[in-house]
Amino acid sequence: MSELLDVFKRCGITPEECSGGSLTVRSPIDGAELAQVHETPLASMPDVIARSRAAFLKWREVPAPLRGELVRLWGEELRSAKRDIGHIVSVEVGKIVEEGLGEVQEGVDICEFALGQARQLYGKTIVSERPGHRIMEQYHPLGPVAIITAFNFPSAVFAWNAALALVCGDPVIFKPSEKAPLSGLATFKALQRAIARFGDKAPHGLAQIVIGRAGQGEALVDSPDIALVSATGSTRMGRAIGPKVAARFGRRILELGGNNAMIVTPEADLDMALRAILFSAVGTAGQRCTSLRRLIVHRSAKAKLLDKVLPAYASLNIGNPLTAGTLVGPLIDQAAYDLMQKSIDEAKAQGGVVLTGGERVLADQFPRGFYARPAIVDMPAQTEVVRHETFAPLLYVLSYDSLDEAIELHNAVPQGLSSCIFSNNMREVEKFISASGSDCGMANVNIGPSGAEIGGAFGGEKETGGDRESGSDAWKQYMRRTTNTINYSTQLPLAQGINFG
Ligand code: UN1
Repeated sequence: MSELLDVFKRCGITPEECSGGSLTVRSPIDGAELAQVHETPLASMPDVIARSRAAFLKWREVPAPLRGELVRLWGEELRSAKRDIGHIVSVEVGKIVEEGLGEVQEGVDICEFALGQARQLYGKTIVSERPGHRIMEQYHPLGPVAIITAFNFPSAVFAWNAALALVCGDPVIFKPSEKAPLSGLATFKALQRAIARFGDKAPHGLAQIVIGRAGQGEALVDSPDIALVSATGSTRMGRAIGPKVAARFGRRILELGGNNAMIVTPEADLDMALRAILFSAVGTAGQRCTSLRRLIVHRSAKAKLLDKVLPAYASLNIGNPLTAGTLVGPLIDQAAYDLMQKSIDEAKAQGGVVLTGGERVLADQFPRGFYARPAIVDMPAQTEVVRHETFAPLLYVLSYDSLDEAIELHNAVPQGLSSCIFSNNMREVEKFISASGSDCGMANVNIGPSGAEIGGAFGGEKETGGDRESGSDAWKQYMRRTTNTINYSTQLPLAQGINFG
């Protein structure tokens, strides 16, 4: 425990900040209390938002390449604190050490991406139909951005959003999950150190953190001064937030549930598919929004593939995520474990056969930690339970006979985040990523559905929310576009050839 306090201290989290507060944070590893953090009083939310608004008026005047310098410094701070923040992520949400470190690396990567982007906030120049005229686009800062994140990526998703928002000229208000405020705080403190090094061109209130539960989130969602709400979480949460932001014509980025599948064709490299299945179905104990949940395998390849997958599942090292060699850590809490059990029961009632796993393990060693053996359930059809996202290491197996049938099954779920095909047949692969293939925001080839790089646009369709964050041109959502028509002639011709008197 005192070791953890040292880690907090090195991350800039003071003993006062993590004691005596009303929000108790427990480790999923063993249920031990990690901290009692202080919730931001609801009554202070208007001040938080007003500070952000005031900071916006100043920050938007700082040239974008200079704003880029701030995220460069943040990237440096994250790099040097990588081990400590990664450790907090592991202790607070139960990720194995490698994945905790990987999460902080995503933050470093997006800072570097955003630094380059800071010099590339390009608009187009457009030819005019009128002589002596020119049309161009500019991208301007948008306003305060609220970033509401989930427990499972408590550091990286804040970084994805904040790094881009900051170079785009927007202040940020970060609300981490109430299940993972410490990882959020540690990542935020690294940003604060960067702001201190950046100097007084960074206005007061440029980056703020609010700790709390639904109430603090609602204050951000409902405020007309919050220009963009970026929220990651369940579809249920998105259904609550989306209409509220829309009702005030605010902007939103929603990254909600996934029900990600892999199609394995007769022409797949099964050893590669095996490795991808393990990382994406079992990694992070199945608690990524990109986790593999449905394996759609050609009937002729099913037995061969399962002959590889089942022994690999049997030898999985489940345990304390801080111990070297562990591959599967705990679920976040008992509620997650209970939901996994409920889904397995439903799957059985709907004709499923449990091929392996599902049961609780290590209860003797960790009576207050919820470790589950990753489960594989063979399903006769894509029944109701398979169409739901269960945030746990629970993989359903479905069989198919023709690729068209596989794609139909693949798309017949309400979610549309990530997907993949394993095949060495060019026709199958191209079909899967074509307009009549996967309907997801991400469709991969010979690689699993999880573990995306930050350079691509991240997000999905249908109940996943329809928005994108992270790389590619996701930066545009953090800016407002103006179209400027400039007349450098001495005439005033009207568009569409109109003659007005
Ligand atoms: C999430 O689970 O919300 O692609 C984000 C991945 C990670 C990000 C997951 N880079 O699995």
